[in-house]
Amino acid sequence: MSKRYTITAALPYTNGPIHIGHLAGVYVPADIYARYKRLTGNDVAFICGSDEHGVPITIKAKKEGVTPQDIVDKYHAIIKQSFEDFGISFDNYSRTSDKIHHDTASEFFKTLYDKNEFVEEVSEQLYDAEANQFLADRFVIGTCPKCGNEESYGDQCEKCGTSHNATDLINPKSAITGNVPSLKETKHWFLPLNKHEQFLKEWILEGHKKDWKPNVYGQVKSWIDDGLRPRAVTRDLDWGIPVPVPGGEGKVLYVWFDAPIGYISATKEWAAREGKDWKPYWKDENTKLLHFIGKDNIVFHCIIFPAMLKAEGSYILPNNVPANEFLNLEGNKLSTSKNWAVWLPEYLQDFPDKQDVLRYALTANAPETKDNDFTWKDFQARNNNELVAIFGNFINRVVVLTNKYYNGIIPTPSEFSKVDEETLAAVKAYPKVIESSLERYRFREASQELMNLARLGNKYLADEEPWKLVKTDEARTQTIMYVALQIASALATLCEPFLPFTSSKLKNILNVSSSDSTQENSLENTWADISTKDILIPASHQIAKGELLFSKIEDKEIQAQLDKLEASKKANEAANKAVEPQKDTITFDDFTKLDIRVGTILEAEKMPKAKKLLVLKVDTGIDVRTIVSGIAESFTAEEVVGKKVTVLVNLAPRALRGVESQGMILMTETPEGKLVFVNPDDANVSNGLHIS
Ligand code: MF3
Ligand code: ZN
Repeated sequence: MSKRYTITAALPYTNGPIHIGHLAGVYVPADIYARYKRLTGNDVAFICGSDEHGVPITIKAKKEGVTPQDIVDKYHAIIKQSFEDFGISFDNYSRTSDKIHHDTASEFFKTLYDKNEFVEEVSEQLYDAEANQFLADRFVIGTCPKCGNEESYGDQCEKCGTSHNATDLINPKSAITGNVPSLKETKHWFLPLNKHEQFLKEWILEGHKKDWKPNVYGQVKSWIDDGLRPRAVTRDLDWGIPVPVPGGEGKVLYVWFDAPIGYISATKEWAAREGKDWKPYWKDENTKLLHFIGKDNIVFHCIIFPAMLKAEGSYILPNNVPANEFLNLEGNKLSTSKNWAVWLPEYLQDFPDKQDVLRYALTANAPETKDNDFTWKDFQARNNNELVAIFGNFINRVVVLTNKYYNGIIPTPSEFSKVDEETLAAVKAYPKVIESSLERYRFREASQELMNLARLGNKYLADEEPWKLVKTDEARTQTIMYVALQIASALATLCEPFLPFTSSKLKNILNVSSSDSTQENSLENTWADISTKDILIPASHQIAKGELLFSKIEDKEIQAQLDKLEASKKANEAANKAVEPQKDTITFDDFTKLDIRVGTILEAEKMPKAKKLLVLKVDTGIDVRTIVSGIAESFTAEEVVGKKVTVLVNLAPRALRGVESQGMILMTETPEGKLVFVNPDDANVSNGLHIS
């Protein structure tokens, strides 16, 4: 039965590109589900957009010396384009800085305000006097009162997922100045979650015990059991949606108040464009509302947003919130700041025609019930051993043989054998099997069932061996090829949610693409057709020559990716290494007193009984002089002879172990702590250092 679905995917923060963690946790499963629901004949609105408010964006803007709007404009474009190139089939990808969203969120706030759903309260909030700013959300770091994590943010602890008030933090510190904040009075509007506790208990704890994923249900239950308290939904910040009620001047809506309303604004924008009414997608009890999110978003989608919707009164509530756990990368937590990630735009550049490979690898290994690890080796194996060796191999055999034996015209079968009948019956069962996994949000399982259908095809051909029979039994060969083509046709349809690029290539090869699969004479099958039709692709139909669906990924391509990660690990280690603090500032005049020249070491010998010292004879361009240098632990006398070095020549002479040293060689350290010469690029220059 056809239904209406509003499917949302978490609005990504617009302060960086999308990485594989986002894809595996949210966007790939959401896209599979949305495509599957469309293919099974439902009315689907698949909604997303950029989450453009919030503190991290203002912090990034400040760091880069640009405006927050500059930051979100840049990343909105990057994110939107990469989703499109990756085949995420949003019906609308909007943004929360758009007017339609500002209006929608303001109106929503005003409605709750008019209904007296907020508690208005002047309270003491954390304040950084030096920065002249209140410290909300990511502007403050402290110890989580629930789990003891010392790096919790003001509104949420990333370690245990708890959402709290900034004043709950133990030992809070300003993220701007590092100062211990003071307290200062300010007025805010609070959503009294305690008032909705009973309703939340009945709706989730009693109503969704069976159909919500255990990880989601468990988290929600633990929060409700801990007791819910009022949460401030406004902030003293200047980036966001202005608080639209008296006394709200200079304040904005909390980003987690406005962002989920973004789903509604994005639906409105889409409906207006399509000439549809947006309301049934959010207000009709028969609509199924589903939120695809990562586990750090559970409290906002299962408690706070539903409480807001309930308080407003005219909206439906989510039917399910299939949140995923986290994906790690090569054994370590994904991290934007440490650049420990596979970024989607980079992936698309490195593997421009392999969207489906990443979709498949992330699905087959999705962090559905626990955190999971992405490795490039697994990615390669999924491609080479499954997509190429099973799926691709089957299709290639079918297409090549059909062209070879019958010039691409599907042969007419004669009588089916028992194996043929069983095989065709097994194919018909696949839609139900895959559906049953998808309906329970088990995307890994579903992707494996799809691969099993390809396995079935491979086995059928391997057992029946048409390439042998073609010499002796024309009729039997025709029947085998006809059956194999039915399997290929089923794959073309059933793989669409998982491997959309492959599906469309395969439909082109089978020459069944049409703009409208519901048309009577269309050769393109719907999901249901696979179970109900006896003929999925008819005899006498001409197929195309074909192209390879997948290609092998070589070791060196994988190595290049691993090298990239290794490089970011090194860069991080170097950046995190404790460096000597800068010395006291000197004047420009002090600096011009230094006479620094390029010299060549002519002779070198070890200073007797001194571990560290070499006695050098250095040609400075003006003279040849003796310099005693403390580098003997890093260099032997032999290896420094002939080296070009940078020398401070007007340093007052100094006796070291009875030898007068007439200058100083300039050295520096590598990130690994090894001494190296400050090495002049142009060995012919021998003038004093120029300051220009
Ligand atoms: N931007 C949030 C994140 O990346 C998700 C926002 S989801 C929405 O964690 F519901 F608020 F839109
Ligand atoms: Zn915590």
